[in-house]
Amino acid sequence: MRKNIVAGNWKMNTTVQEGVALAKEVNDALAAGKNNCDVVICVPFTHLVPVAGAIDSKVLGLGAENCAQYDKGAYTGEVSASMVASTGAGYVILGHSERRQYYGENNDTLKAKTRLALDNGLTPIFCVGEVLEERENGSYNDVVQSQVEALFDLAAEDFSKIIVAYEPVWAIGTGKTATAEQAQDMHAHIRSVIAGKYGNEIADNTSILYGGSCKPSNARELFAKPDVDGGLIGGAALKADSFMGIVEAFN
Ligand code: 13P
Repeated sequence: MRKNIVAGNWKMNTTVQEGVALAKEVNDALAAGKNNCDVVICVPFTHLVPVAGAIDSKVLGLGAENCAQYDKGAYTGEVSASMVASTGAGYVILGHSERRQYYGENNDTLKAKTRLALDNGLTPIFCVGEVLEERENGSYNDVVQSQVEALFDLAAEDFSKIIVAYEPVWAIGTGKTATAEQAQDMHAHIRSVIAGKYGNEIADNTSILYGGSCKPSNARELFAKPDVDGGLIGGAALKADSFMGIVEAFN
């Protein structure tokens, strides 16, 4: 059966020193307790190596927030999937709405990034989600469906390695969470789209995380929904106690 997962997305926050301290705090809190989900932190590129050295990979997974769409070569400033993997990271967030919105990422770039992530043994956390206008005009199911379908060139074996994160853009960093019902409805839709392409077994085994103003006070209600398999956490992942409060929603 699919895994429950709580993943942090630190975005462009913390210095290396602050990040290592935060990672250690999360790692130690996890090691001291018993948790019913996998926990991952996705951190800035600069933090990957020192954070990998500061945490126990059996306790806390580590990921990047992006990777390049090219394998290697003359792409000044870019960081490849193989570089990310060589730090010891096991995950990479792809297609976050901030990347789509500010850096022009589209289905073609994301297909290339996903291929390279998988080829380098990374587990993609693939983000989808509609903007407010699409929520309001009722096109949100179609929008998210087409974002998921960008991955449908993948063979079944490769698709089965993907974690999907549904992040309604209007709920990110706004304090405005999707209701548990809205999240459940979309997660069920995503799962049925996956089932239509890859069959029920792969759809049932795909972890689908919710992201967007998730916090300790609403995580339990969201995670109680049958198709919500955890969260991708922004702001609340930047403090160990609030992040752990979300992890504990599975206890
Ligand atoms: P917030 O939790 O800050 O709303 O961010 C969600 C997010 O974008 C995680 O990737």
